[in-house]
Amino acid sequence: MNTRTIFLVAGARPNFMKVAPLLHQMGRYPEVFRSKLIHTGQHYDAGMSDVFFEDLELPQPDRFLGVGSGSHAEQTGKVMMAFEKVCLEDHPDLVIVVGDVNSTMACAITAKKLCIPVAHVEAGLRSRDWTMPEEVNRVVTDAISDLLFTPSLDANDNLLREGVSPERIHFVGNVMIDSLLAYLPKVQRRDTLQRFGVTRHNYATMTLHRPSNVDDRRVLAGIIDVITEFSQTLPILWPVHPRARKMLEQFKLLGLLDHGNGVKLIDPLGYLDMLALNRSARLILTDSGGLQEEATVLGVPCITLRENTERPVTIEAGCNHVAGNEPAGIRGAIDSALNRNGAEIRTPELWDGRASQRIVEVLRQFLLRPGAEVRA
Ligand code: UD1
Repeated sequence: MNTRTIFLVAGARPNFMKVAPLLHQMGRYPEVFRSKLIHTGQHYDAGMSDVFFEDLELPQPDRFLGVGSGSHAEQTGKVMMAFEKVCLEDHPDLVIVVGDVNSTMACAITAKKLCIPVAHVEAGLRSRDWTMPEEVNRVVTDAISDLLFTPSLDANDNLLREGVSPERIHFVGNVMIDSLLAYLPKVQRRDTLQRFGVTRHNYATMTLHRPSNVDDRRVLAGIIDVITEFSQTLPILWPVHPRARKMLEQFKLLGLLDHGNGVKLIDPLGYLDMLALNRSARLILTDSGGLQEEATVLGVPCITLRENTERPVTIEAGCNHVAGNEPAGIRGAIDSALNRNGAEIRTPELWDGRASQRIVEVLRQFLLRPGAEVRA
């Protein structure tokens, strides 16, 4: 009788492993939550979306908004228009958004303007780098969300410094790590390493997709220069993001990677294969946010090819080295990472596989609090 309709929004690849444990946990309380998965369609390729539904055993989305790619304004606007329509049809009692992609911000704004409460999972992270579209998405989403679920205490500090009242902030840990820990046993039985012709600790993995790295020919060519050199020591497996592939082609850089060096370009991987490769890698090179966190829990040294990170807890844990994207910095970071074996890496507080349980407990209390009406 008291069942509440909850919209859980996923749009792009890094969202799927965050919504999966939340859906699962809400499913334990059918008398409270009627959850609906809304896929905005920001990512739509089989390799960027479908495979994650299979690997993470996600149900088909209740709604698929099909917005696709576009400029930031175009994509954000399309998500808002399509999402407003489903909100008006289904009257959710709460909208949950995760992470920091355009779909996150677009759905948070839309819901808030319809006076629907918003919960943001992975709130409070700050790079303080306003050239990152994600930083804008994070700050806007946090400013308007009713419930802010943080993965680390630095995120609480950031929110408090911005004047957010403490009652809105809930330190719950990292939902992405809930998925990682849940699927690790399955990953251990996979033949991924054999399929890619590598053995444990004898290769590195790399991912790149940020505009700051792939949209600038000079920067991208510099990174390729360092990794082709390094790949003589340790082969590198590089699952290439569609944006990076497009730019490699446009800048005619694919030829540099085609000369029998140890860099192997592969298609984007599903969740389980990627986890299998990262778990056994000697080193991870990345500009992704999520991968810095996964590396920390897997105990694999990580080099971040950016000038900053919104996830300083991964540095404090002894895992992550923010190296920038210039060759000299990357070379130095690789040298020092190869002298470490990962044994000194610590798991951050509450990254224990139970973040989604904590979130769902807070949501139950929020939805069932005296005076919280079921919407018509
Ligand atoms: C988005 C997120 C970023 C996240 C990343 C993970 C924003 C602002 N950025 O960046 O935070 O880390 O996802 O991948 O929301 N494309 C395809 N197929 C797809 C999706 C995209 O080919 O399924 C291509 C299109 O050419 C598109 C480009 O990739 O123009 C970029 O996609 P987009 O979603 O705009 O941003 P990402 O770079 O993927």
